Amino acid sequence: MTQVDIVNAMSDAEGAAKVTALFERTYGTKPAGVWAAPGRVNLIGEHTDYNGGLCLPIALPHRTYIALSPRTDTQVRVVSDINENDVQTADLNGLEAGGIDGWAAYPVGVAWALREAGHDVQGFDAAFSTCVPFGSGLSSSAAMTCSTALALDGAYDLGFGATDAGRITLINAAITSENDMAGASTGGLDQSASMRCTPDHAIRLDFRPGLTAEESAQQEAFDLSNHGPELLVLDTRAPHQLNDGQYAQRRATCEEAAELLGADNLREVADLVNAQADPATALEGVLERLDDDTMRKRVRHVITEIGRVDDFIEAFAEGDMQTAGDLFNASHDSLRDDYEVTVPELDIAVDVARDEGALGARMTGGGFGGSIIALVNQGESQRIAQCIADEFERRGFNAPRALPAYAAQSAHRVQ
Ligand code: GLA
Repeated sequence: MTQVDIVNAMSDAEGAAKVTALFERTYGTKPAGVWAAPGRVNLIGEHTDYNGGLCLPIALPHRTYIALSPRTDTQVRVVSDINENDVQTADLNGLEAGGIDGWAAYPVGVAWALREAGHDVQGFDAAFSTCVPFGSGLSSSAAMTCSTALALDGAYDLGFGATDAGRITLINAAITSENDMAGASTGGLDQSASMRCTPDHAIRLDFRPGLTAEESAQQEAFDLSNHGPELLVLDTRAPHQLNDGQYAQRRATCEEAAELLGADNLREVADLVNAQADPATALEGVLERLDDDTMRKRVRHVITEIGRVDDFIEAFAEGDMQTAGDLFNASHDSLRDDYEVTVPELDIAVDVARDEGALGARMTGGGFGGSIIALVNQGESQRIAQCIADEFERRGFNAPRALPAYAAQSAHRVQ
């Protein structure tokens, strides 16, 4: 059997050296600076962000690096080390939503979104390098848009990047770029994680509308070295699925359900249900008011998943790793059976991890491919990743890859 691939994170020094050299080769000058933004792993709270719910991500040590210089005109040039002969160009002047094709839409869209929001940003030259695997459900897109947003903030002295509350403006530009320029639906979890996480902490993000920056995020200690288990992150490399229509469909069903239930969003319903002495019965009562089976399943996922976030935080804080693992399992099963966003690769990887003694395992991110995470006993990550890789080989799936993971820092200036 083939040995499982490990995707190690680049250090800031390596990332900076790579993008600086690429920038100099491409544009013939030195960049004004180098910035980085991480991918993320969502521990629990999936498909809840666009329902006004709760999520609990950590920032990965895997980051996207950007070397950038501002320009005095509105031209943009971007290049990445995936194909350094392919320099993409755009003009911010007169640019409209959806006006850029391909990957350049992500960084160009950030500058466009900042300008649309009234900020004084002109064109730029930039070079990218990343170790966040693409299409892995680990937010390579957010790593790109957030690194660009922070770089533009620095290069144009906007002053938002310096504070957590200020970063919300940059997060919004990143989200607008992804939704409106790149045409990729996203709810805010990924960009908030990339911009607001702190080392050794998971961040409890609360997407209830109308909260202040301070109310919307709480840092929760997540230092695994205190507790024993390890976090295995494994990118299944399931073939890319056309998931965007599916994501939009899930979202529309949730919005319709909230309206039928007379609520602004499913979070309101979840709060009512979870405040009852017997939430399970209260949930049944809510579901009886909906007559579409699929809609009932979607709502059951969202409401139970929102409840699992605080249950996980509590179990983890108490060092009750078995309960924490059970909550991972319940989350995955709900995403598989009720939300129906898993694929065979995700389900098999989770099953193998559980069979091999993981305390719990679940898919992470939007689904339809991408990664799983598992809470495993100390020293077991590599062995369990290998077991999953062996099973994938037997089944003729793509070879998966594992990522060493811990709660790392959010987007920052490197040089
Ligand atoms: C994708 C989206 C996020 C979130 C997750 C599911 O990653 O970009 O906003 O909805 O799916 O939790």
